[in-house]
Amino acid sequence: MMGNLFLQSPSWTTLLGTAGIFLVVHLIFSVFNQKGRREPPGPWPLPVLGNLLQLDFKSPYITLNELSKKYGPVFTFHFGPRKTVVLAGHKMIKQALVYSDAFSERNVPPVFHDMKLTHGVLFANGPSWKEMRHFSLTNMRDFGMGKKASEEKILEESQRLIDLFSEKKGKPFDPADPVNHAVSNIICSIVYGNRFEYDDPVFISMVERATKNSKLLGTPALQLYNSFPSLFKWVKARKDLMENVFANRRQMKELIKGLQETLNPQMCRGVADSFLARKMQLEASGNTDSHYHEDNLLATVNNLFAAGTDTTSSTIRYGLLLMAKYPKVQEKVQEEMSRVAGDRQIRVEDRKNLPYTDAVVHEIQRMSNTVPTTQRCTSRDVIFQDYFIKKGTPVLALLSSSLCDEDEWATPDTFNPAHFLDKEGNFRKRDAFLPFSAGARVCAGESLARMELFIFFTALLQSFHFTPPPGVSGDDLDLTQVVGITLSPVPHKLCAVSRI
Ligand code: HEM
Repeated sequence: MMGNLFLQSPSWTTLLGTAGIFLVVHLIFSVFNQKGRREPPGPWPLPVLGNLLQLDFKSPYITLNELSKKYGPVFTFHFGPRKTVVLAGHKMIKQALVYSDAFSERNVPPVFHDMKLTHGVLFANGPSWKEMRHFSLTNMRDFGMGKKASEEKILEESQRLIDLFSEKKGKPFDPADPVNHAVSNIICSIVYGNRFEYDDPVFISMVERATKNSKLLGTPALQLYNSFPSLFKWVKARKDLMENVFANRRQMKELIKGLQETLNPQMCRGVADSFLARKMQLEASGNTDSHYHEDNLLATVNNLFAAGTDTTSSTIRYGLLLMAKYPKVQEKVQEEMSRVAGDRQIRVEDRKNLPYTDAVVHEIQRMSNTVPTTQRCTSRDVIFQDYFIKKGTPVLALLSSSLCDEDEWATPDTFNPAHFLDKEGNFRKRDAFLPFSAGARVCAGESLARMELFIFFTALLQSFHFTPPPGVSGDDLDLTQVVGITLSPVPHKLCAVSRI
């Protein structure tokens, strides 16, 4: 019996030979596509697993940065069976995102379908995205984005944040919640037309869930789910995420119901009111087939709230941490502000007279690397840098590679405001500074975020000196980031010592 089995079974040599041929064919197919066109190089993918064994799930962007040094600025990485083209360095990122129309679609991993976020702006595509992006930008500007009106709102909110920090009387505290709430209130005033009190339980839970979701989306479990949705559907991180998403959706619906009941289309209070007014107007004219429906309203409001809270707040908090770690830089900023503005509030128009402060705010953003990657996909077959990329291929722009490019920055891994100063001490713009990405899908809140970073930062530094808690030295302050869909500082405590 055993002898027969051996006789009928292929020999080891045959098995190894077949496996060898299979792997060679697989290799050839991974370098050239079916029509013999050259695709971007990359590490050799294993069947099914692709290159996942090479990925550091805790900080995938670091693995990809390292691989770009080996394979060049355009390379292929297989997230399991998903072939993805990665773009590294500001020249290549701009070449694709700004100078080609083939890369402006959003790749939408499975989890965002589950979250019902394929409408709105962030994860939408096609004519609906175009309309919602245009609508959001126009209306956010109408309600003050990038203008005096939002400057006033930010100055007012900074004062409340200062009052709250003052209550701590210089004792150590974690600035995460207060800064999250202050930043979130700016986008809430623009979207809903009003701010919330910091102790409002509805507001607290909305902000808490949004920041938790940002972290959950970066967990290894959810990354695996996006590569193998049917295998990892039941992971806890996905269950927690979905609970949060639907709780936030319920709360948003309540808030919007309140707006609807008190709506005066001639006196819109914010972006959500404008949407409701437009929807009513279109329905009254018999147009029931427009982009102005409930799913687009909920997704757009959700996008602006989520994209406008965690990003800016994490950057400000990282900035305060850096100030506590680098007291000499902090003193230089405070000295420049006192010299230029004395005790009065700093405003956006002061920025041109505060080159060192401006450089510090930019360097904080470079180091905080808040959005290390952005996901796109090709809208058509395209030849890019002599490589063929098929329509529908996910594309990952490694913004972090540009912010820490060794050829662009004198000390890429060290906090150094001189990166943004010329020899005379004037502010110097840098091409490789791409924290908001570029092209048709560049961050829709860039002007608001830039204003918030500058005003919150200067207002806080005018009022306080930030230090590590007693007994902790600056060297001990941990600059490591928590990796989610965005990066944020690890929980920490600081002291805000009054300067007044
Ligand atoms: C420091 C703060 C911020 C950073 C670093 C940041 C960064 C980014 C990045 C990298 C993208 C992806 C762009 C792309 O795909 O190429 C993005 C998209 C977006 N951001 Fe921001 N952002 C910030 C603040 C804000 C704020 C305050 C808002 C609120 C209005 C906002 C709203 C959006 C929206 C709606 C999109 C989607 C754009 C689209 O797909 O068309 N962001 N942001």
